[in-house]
Amino acid sequence: MEKIQVTIDGPAGAGKSSVSKILAQRLGYVYIDTGAMYRTLTYSAIKEKVDFSDIDSIIKLLTSIEINFGLDQETGTQKVFCNDQDVTDLIRSPEVNQKVSIIAAILEVRNIMVLRQREIAQNNNVVMDGRDIGTVVLPNAKYKFYLTASLEERAKRRAKELEAKGYKIDLEKLIVEIKTRDNMDTQREYSPLKPASDAIIIDSSKINLEQVIGSIINYIKEDDINVL
Ligand code: CDP
Ligand code: CDP
Repeated sequence: MEKIQVTIDGPAGAGKSSVSKILAQRLGYVYIDTGAMYRTLTYSAIKEKVDFSDIDSIIKLLTSIEINFGLDQETGTQKVFCNDQDVTDLIRSPEVNQKVSIIAAILEVRNIMVLRQREIAQNNNVVMDGRDIGTVVLPNAKYKFYLTASLEERAKRRAKELEAKGYKIDLEKLIVEIKTRDNMDTQREYSPLKPASDAIIIDSSKINLEQVIGSIINYIKEDDINVL
């Protein structure tokens, strides 16, 4: 049977992963965080001291690593593994934040990532979040959404999240960091971040997570919900 695909794209901190995780649970689908795939490659390249301008070495590294997702049985949270190493927290480091958009701009990297992402979506009903999911990875997806919110609101939410983890945050610096990454993602040559022409755009600046999820679920046909 044809698998059902829900795509969630948008800029950094728009709420994609929080929304997608809960949505996937409620629909009974698999959640795929494609940003974590680019982050894992970036983390590995930093660790292996690969020169970011040496595309051949980056590709060699990418083809040598297996990126997998798994559930933490105790907490129910999603984990990311790189060749069996748990990299869930490591891929959210400030250094990875700074460098991931450089790796993500490389066409050869994107081509391999897109193949891997399509393969997962061929075998499972998925909620997949990222930057190019509705436009490039799954252009024929049944349901497409583009989440956005003001830069200030996104930065404040990110800051709150990081502060809860014990980091001390300079909000102005965080705003610049997010803006810089958004600019790199929207202005790159290959698969830039933009809403698909048939995506439903949701601005969450003034609505909470539950309201965003509720409005998305309103678009999903009852027959497509697997959870009783
Ligand atoms: O969580 P946050 O929105 O900050 O970022 P992410 O979704 O983990 O994505 C990290 C970076 O990976 C983005 O800034 C993009 O440069 C890249 N990315 C991409 O190019 N294409 C995707 N489908 C997903 C992420
Ligand atoms: O994945 P992405 O970078 O798009 O964003 P996220 O990591 O899911 O969301 C960033 C933070 O914003 C999380 O702490 C969410 O709980 C919060 N959020 C919110 O407070 N209200 C919303 N409507 C959406 C997200």
